[in-house]
Amino acid sequence: MEETSLSFDSRYWPFKKYTEIYNRSLQDPERFWAEEARKLDWFKTWDTVLDWQPPFARWFVGGELNASYQCVDRHVKTWRRSKVAIYWEGEPGDSQVLSYSTLYRWVNKFASVLQKLGVGKGDTVALYLPMIPELPIFMLACARIGAVHTVVFSGFSAQALADRINDTQAKILVTADAGFRRGKFVQLKNISDEAARLSPSIESVIVARRGNMTPEMKPGRDYWLHDLLDKADAHVSPVPVESTHPLYILYTSGTTGKPKGIVHNTGGYLVFNNSVYKWVFDIKEESVYWCTADVGWVTGHSSIVYGPLCHGAAIVLYEGAPDYPTVDRWWDIIEKYGVSIFYTSPTAIRMLMRYGEDKVKRHDLSTLELLGSVGEAINPEAWLWYYKVIGGERCPIVDTWWQTETGGTMISPAPGIECAPLKPGSATFPLPGVNADIVDDSGKSVPPGQKGYLVIKTPWPGMLAGIHGDPVRYKETYWSKFPGMFYTGDYAIKDKDGYFWLLGRADEVLKIAGHRIGTIEIEDAVVSHQSVVEAAVASKPDPVKGESVVVFATLKQGEVPSPELKDGIKRHIRSTLGPVVTPDEIYFVAKLPKTRSGKIMRRVLKAVASESQIGDLTTLEDEASVDEVKKAYEQLKKEV
Ligand code: PRX
Repeated sequence: MEETSLSFDSRYWPFKKYTEIYNRSLQDPERFWAEEARKLDWFKTWDTVLDWQPPFARWFVGGELNASYQCVDRHVKTWRRSKVAIYWEGEPGDSQVLSYSTLYRWVNKFASVLQKLGVGKGDTVALYLPMIPELPIFMLACARIGAVHTVVFSGFSAQALADRINDTQAKILVTADAGFRRGKFVQLKNISDEAARLSPSIESVIVARRGNMTPEMKPGRDYWLHDLLDKADAHVSPVPVESTHPLYILYTSGTTGKPKGIVHNTGGYLVFNNSVYKWVFDIKEESVYWCTADVGWVTGHSSIVYGPLCHGAAIVLYEGAPDYPTVDRWWDIIEKYGVSIFYTSPTAIRMLMRYGEDKVKRHDLSTLELLGSVGEAINPEAWLWYYKVIGGERCPIVDTWWQTETGGTMISPAPGIECAPLKPGSATFPLPGVNADIVDDSGKSVPPGQKGYLVIKTPWPGMLAGIHGDPVRYKETYWSKFPGMFYTGDYAIKDKDGYFWLLGRADEVLKIAGHRIGTIEIEDAVVSHQSVVEAAVASKPDPVKGESVVVFATLKQGEVPSPELKDGIKRHIRSTLGPVVTPDEIYFVAKLPKTRSGKIMRRVLKAVASESQIGDLTTLEDEASVDEVKKAYEQLKKEV
């Protein structure tokens, strides 16, 4: 833990304003959040701020609003109608600039397209699109008519897409003919066709044109977006929805093989994101904001679409890879659009760091004022490089800790209120209204310097409304480890000054290049390969990606281990889960280390995978004896 604190100008200290607001927010949370909620435009004011039937929270009950109205209509009624909403940069260098009035026009027309295909309030629409303007426009168009969107990251496989469609029972799938990835086309329509075959609920497929492809179009089911737009109405009134109406479902990995459909409701989610976006990014009218995440993740939902657009911010949306066609592509984009707020992941920073400073120095990055980091802990070395080389030692870094489940940022410096003196690698303090603590196994707060589990002790408006179709799993996953507290699944520690340091996952969830994936999901994919009997997955530290995947597999009788078989299994995993999860190592072993009751000894796998010692064996979480664990460790080490 690096303890150097970097202080910026005196307006950030003595840090009284934040403390006052934070304390007030916890003393009377309902009053605090009601004040924040008044910053949005409601068609009908709420009757009750919070209806808390643990563990189910309903926020701003009785209130009515519309998310597309907040993000678009509100602005076109003001001078912002001519303000830039989206600077879009395509991977090959083509670009588009959309003003708020253009965005308004498209959101209306796209909403009409959906309506004419029979989509109404409460229906689910699956969006499987690359990073093109059509993606945020479709999200807002769904919200406009009260439909629920479920965005599926366009790097996912047909099976992953079909699983999500089947779980939500989406009736429309929106895709593109193709998407760019490093100069090549990914045939999204073909993948969508395969997914649609596995998804009986799909009635229509809308195809946006990006790649000039001529995919097969199934009559009566498939429509080109441009044909539908020709016949669309110019205006669709925003449908007022209840605050508790779902805005979207977004899938994320947990500790079982089945991803969880995290549901976010309209009112609480928007109120929370409107507030935290201002606190964290100190957004100003003249800011140009760029978050490099894919819209397919929660960061994209809250920090590209709903948070910034609620504020009428000008955002950059970039289609391609950070280092394509040249390794300074991102720095070029910052210079081109005069980006003032830049928000990215530690993995990307570590990758770009490797290309050296002179690639950065070629560009004028003097417009930058604030930098952000998200998705995994940022190591002090990457933090300092980001601070010095990208931020020119003048931009504070907001290290934002949050999750798909929390809806928006929970722990982060808050320059929009008053920025804490920063410590490289610490997310600093919880934002107002976020009652975060670190507890031990019995749920008791731990003293400073002691590692424990990060929990949230009271509800907040951005919290998930539930897991789609599975209230029992919702309760078990988040509210049963420590009754009455939301369990985040993360380890953390507070230092003597009260700063929070996030220490990674406490459960069987991996973070590969910031992407979240359960070990069991990967194991299921490996086992579905014809040559494999059993598999277990561990991770090892990776200097760029944070963690990388290591697979231990036992083969069917008669199967011979070979490099070709390893490649075959890797390809199989990619096609099942998508390219995000390609294992770095596959080891074939005679048997997996297990306890007598058949539980895989995960710490043995992890130690062997990361070539480290087995470590302290005094606190065994399973019933294996110290000797058994040691023996299993030695045996496995010999085999790999
Ligand atoms: O382990 C934490 C890590 O990412 C997890 C949430 O992943 P996901 O739902 O995909 O959302 C990522 C983007 C919001 C957390 O449980 N994480 C996220 N941000 C940080 C982090 N770990 C350390 N520091 C962060 N700033």
